[in-house]
Amino acid sequence: MKLAHFSDVHALSLEGVSPLSFFNKRAAGFANLLLRRRDKHPFALFEAIVEDLNREKPEEVVVTGDLTNLSLPPEFKLARQILDRISAGSEHVTIVPGNHDVYTLGAMRAHLFDEAVKPYATSDGESEVHFPIVRTRGPIAIIGISTALPSPPPLADGWVGGTQLDAVKRALRQHADKFRVVLLHHPPYTNRHSILRGLRDRGKLQKVLAEVGCELILHGHEHRDLRREIAGPNGPIPVIGVGSGTYQDARPERRARYNVYTIEGGKLIATETRVHDAAQNRFVAQ
Ligand SMILES: [Fe+2]
Ligand SMILES: [Fe+2]
Repeated sequence: MKLAHFSDVHALSLEGVSPLSFFNKRAAGFANLLLRRRDKHPFALFEAIVEDLNREKPEEVVVTGDLTNLSLPPEFKLARQILDRISAGSEHVTIVPGNHDVYTLGAMRAHLFDEAVKPYATSDGESEVHFPIVRTRGPIAIIGISTALPSPPPLADGWVGGTQLDAVKRALRQHADKFRVVLLHHPPYTNRHSILRGLRDRGKLQKVLAEVGCELILHGHEHRDLRREIAGPNGPIPVIGVGSGTYQDARPERRARYNVYTIEGGKLIATETRVHDAAQNRFVAQ
């Protein structure tokens, strides 16, 4: 089966937003956005991903967070409109939040992310959003973790939390007969950005994964293609980070991309990276 993975599309929309919305943390975020990001994540590339998915037709699609820039209602609305064009439908598209999807305490308390993408973030048999998301689809089980925290800049760290981690452990045990794919926004290992941008309780998550295992871990957040392994009970578990799905950049290694994994016989047998080609205005295999 084919599993597509994109991340960090950072849909930008300021439609109908009053300057008062930018008080406090958003003021810093907004200045940053205007200076550096305005044209860096055009939503036309998000639309181009959806067109490519609808041509390639992977059975499942997963999204590892940062759908928006500032967790603004018009950004969620824009992201949802584009997501709804994926022909596989919300049953086959699973989304976890990133730090930009709970950018302020207000956005988190109002559950803006949960409400905006509800059909994409519910567990099997449930109608409300509770993390972890647990979905079984054919030979795979998808376990989607929320690591999103409203952290003031320059922080962009994440947190799983003990209650969620216990539920992750139970779900991994329960679906040990499947190819278990764990989704989370932040990388689950230590890197050079860990102090400000890392997953705070990564050590605890690693301990659970080392004990109960999973077959594949997918993340975003770093806006780069990354390959690592972390310890599992029966050998190393592959950890794959994908670059931003919408990054407008001349450098081929940074340009907008997404991955398609081929899973056969309980194994990850191939990873294809599809990169946006500016001349053709479409995604092509790297
Ligand atoms: Fe991001
Ligand atoms: Fe992020």
